[in-house]
Amino acid sequence: MLNLYKDTWALDVPVCPCDVHFNDFVTDKKIKNASIFHFGTGSHHVIGIQAAEDGRKNAVFAITASVGEYDSYVKLITEEPRVGNFYKAYFGDIYQLDKRLLPEFDVVTLFHLCEFRTPENDAYGALTDLEMAKILIDKIKPGGYVLFYKGSMAFEKALPVIAKLEKQRGIVRQPDFKTLQVYRVGAPKSAKKPVKKAKAKVKAKIKAKKKIAAKKASGKTSKRK
Ligand SMILES: C[S@@+](CC[C@H](N)C(=O)[O-])C[C@H]1O[C@@H](n2cnc3c(N)ncnc32)[C@H](O)[C@@H]1O
Repeated sequence: MLNLYKDTWALDVPVCPCDVHFNDFVTDKKIKNASIFHFGTGSHHVIGIQAAEDGRKNAVFAITASVGEYDSYVKLITEEPRVGNFYKAYFGDIYQLDKRLLPEFDVVTLFHLCEFRTPENDAYGALTDLEMAKILIDKIKPGGYVLFYKGSMAFEKALPVIAKLEKQRGIVRQPDFKTLQVYRVGAPKSAKKPVKKAKAKVKAKIKAKKKIAAKKASGKTSKRK
């Protein structure tokens, strides 16, 4: 039997503000035209709805393991199809992710890391929390973000997994944002520097060669005279 999420989670900001804080993060960081993977839609779908409404043109791909939440997604995009332009949710167990089927992301949320995986997942050979997180992080573009939720009921359990991700995937801690623990993947600036330097070297060589050729040419002309 699939390890379903048997509940249907409505928005409850005092208890679980992570999705609302994520929307604030998107606004604060002026994230636009980004592809976002979101773990745990809830039945409120606030992350997908903001993407559809804030004009930033972000695209959200989200997962839920709750039949009730998935039904609410079907209802949402049936009644408001414009939301579906920016927000796709699918039903499944995140511990069955297949890297071959995933695109690249600018931002990944892992707010519920370690909360719901049990021996029930082992029974059908599902991924571990670390394996699942690595698959997603490997899909993040350089400079992209991965975010964890400090208020998660399993945050203590998640901390050693996050530490392994820091070591094994080189994610770099950023200042926290509200209840969210923020990391960036790679640093695009340092990745670009050597390319820039190499280009500058090639340009300088070409310039020097042209100078020599020009000198030679002017020397030949004066000899002829
Ligand atoms: C407590 S609810 C939180 C929902 C929302 N992120 C929020 O904070 O309001 C946990 C979410 O994790 C999802 N979830 C639980 N186990 C999952 C699994 N194995 N795969 C995918 N999603 C899962 C549930 O469907 C639900 O949306």
